[in-house]
Amino acid sequence: MHQNETIADDLDRAAAILRTARNVAVMTGAGISAESGLATFRGAGGLWEGHAVEEVATPQAFRRDPSLVWRFYNARRANLATVKPNPGHHALVTLEKRLGEDRITLITQNVDGLHKAAGSRGVLELHGSLLRVRCSGCGRIEERGTESLPDLPRCSECQELLRPDVVWFHEALPEDVWQKAESAARSCQCFLVVGTSAIVYPAAGLIYLARDRGAKVIEINIAATEASGEVDVSLRGPSGTILPELIKRME
Ligand code: OAD
Repeated sequence: MHQNETIADDLDRAAAILRTARNVAVMTGAGISAESGLATFRGAGGLWEGHAVEEVATPQAFRRDPSLVWRFYNARRANLATVKPNPGHHALVTLEKRLGEDRITLITQNVDGLHKAAGSRGVLELHGSLLRVRCSGCGRIEERGTESLPDLPRCSECQELLRPDVVWFHEALPEDVWQKAESAARSCQCFLVVGTSAIVYPAAGLIYLARDRGAKVIEINIAATEASGEVDVSLRGPSGTILPELIKRME
């Protein structure tokens, strides 16, 4: 059999799983935004290749050198102003419209806001958002989009230092968001995992939680991941091509 036929068969199998599922949970990672021009974290050219995690993405780093941390995040925020959602993000908007918001939960590890920019409505941002800031003193959260911020931005209420409203290593995920994600993983019949290396926990654990509760797992990724051996259907290719094709085959 030709490779193209295998992919077509796998796409049909995946489409059938999606079509028959009452509830669907989708979890995305940096790979879905790669075709928008955003760097992923790991591998050649990844964000963690040029920056030591411990220097820019931990509470300790922020205490030690907040201006270094802010320079890193401000550069990423400025970069966001130049990018747009790609066909992968748009395909998930189509899926949400087709299923209805009560039957789909979109869980993302991404902090780039591109799912919301594309028009997805029920997005659970497990790792926060680059478009928001949080006061390290009073805890106030504000939407600041991609507007330019100083290297040491301060809270307008209490004058303490602001921080990006993202989850750093050694920090807990936002409790309410995590509860909703866990509940979606538990109660879905199809768990679609897109563009993540599936090595960062607790997010990656949702894949196995869903599977252990009987969901079929579909993976879309350009490469094999930690989770590939455990999934029901593995669709190997760029999400900007595979996702629209998959949604088309659900018709
Ligand atoms: P990674 O950089 O670890 O993995 C990106 C994944 O996307 C890899 O498996 C790639 O093979 C895949 N990929 C790349 N381009 C793709 C494309 N066009 N289509 C489909 N797949 C593609 O990013 P994440 O898994 O998102 O956490 O990383 C998880 C978490 O680790 C992030 O949320 C971040 C990071 O440290 C925090 O900052 C807390």
